[in-house]
Amino acid sequence: MTKKILKALAGEKQEVPPIWMMRQAGRYLPEYRETRAQAGDFLSLCYNSELAAEVTLQPIRRYGFDASILFADILLLPQALGADLWFVTGEGPRLSTLQTQLDFENLRTPSEINETLAPVYETVKILSQELPKETTLIGFAGAPWTVATYMVAGRGTPDQAPAHLLKDENPELFDNLINLLVEGTIEYLSHQINAGAEVIKIFDSWAGSLKGHDFDKYALEPCKKIIAALKTKYPETPIIAFPRQAGDRYIGFAKKAGADCLAIDDSVSAEWIAQNVQDDGCVQGNLASSHMVSGGTELIKETKKIVKALSNGPHIFNLGHGITPDADPDNVQIMIDTIRNVN
Ligand code: CP3
Repeated sequence: MTKKILKALAGEKQEVPPIWMMRQAGRYLPEYRETRAQAGDFLSLCYNSELAAEVTLQPIRRYGFDASILFADILLLPQALGADLWFVTGEGPRLSTLQTQLDFENLRTPSEINETLAPVYETVKILSQELPKETTLIGFAGAPWTVATYMVAGRGTPDQAPAHLLKDENPELFDNLINLLVEGTIEYLSHQINAGAEVIKIFDSWAGSLKGHDFDKYALEPCKKIIAALKTKYPETPIIAFPRQAGDRYIGFAKKAGADCLAIDDSVSAEWIAQNVQDDGCVQGNLASSHMVSGGTELIKETKKIVKALSNGPHIFNLGHGITPDADPDNVQIMIDTIRNVN
């Protein structure tokens, strides 16, 4: 029996698309909040392999999603490269800032990341043993541009201005950083695959802020390099690219990057995706995560609309971005029942 997610990634269209959700292990679930409290804080949870595996399994037990995504964070890689990282409750991540050549030289090399990241690989190992046999295990990393925006600014920024400024003022330093992140990401993802990850997803959450040539240089090219390196070593491992908010530049992205699937946010309609992107292969998306908060008939209507619009090609159902802490867990079940045509 081939798993539903792997069928979709191989280009097969299915009457009922496979389903998972970004941030499916998260604060909207009481059992997640309980395990997180047990671990102490978010980062301790990420580095506690047993508990990280436990929170990864929670949404699988509750909902029976077709895929499970490793519980970790895109900012563990910069931490393993030597950046300080902490999370401020209610605000988000904080890192030491990277502004100068000296800051860059103080970072570690890609081969030195594995000691810090060993617990993450252990989480993958535990999951590959404990997940139900029909569930696909997805490993992930942030794309170099998105990770760099956090490293340069030391936090999330609404317009990624500090990273744009550094790239324009000191392109040599910025390019060195991007290249280090490309190599570090290849190393990190290779270890996840060796530990048992069956699919890889690359999150470029801030790709949409790159304009013109910069989009190709900092979103497309790094992603293409990472995928080429992984495909050489692991030709059988499917890769999902997520250049969030790419708009028109979603068109042709998967082909150019060498990805097996393009994940798409909710700023474009499912009909647009069907017309412009799905010819290239599998697409993943794209219900607005606000429906998980508001629920009701709109949730059902939108879910059905997306399933129908993307039913003529390979499709993995997902949200357009991560589920938010204020989501109602019952709405997730309603979404799944609607897709699987229960009731
Ligand atoms: O999707 C999953 O369930 C897997 C685990 C996962 C997390 N982060 C756990 C997490 C994944 C795949 C990520 C990716 C990630 N992390 C991205 C790319 C995707 C996206 O959302 O755009 C980014 C930009 C980050 C960086 C990050 N981590 C931010 C900005 C924040 C704070 C915002 C927030 O939601 O609190 C985090 C924290 C984070 N990462 C949480 C979780 C479950 C919440 C932490 C908590 O429990 O307090």
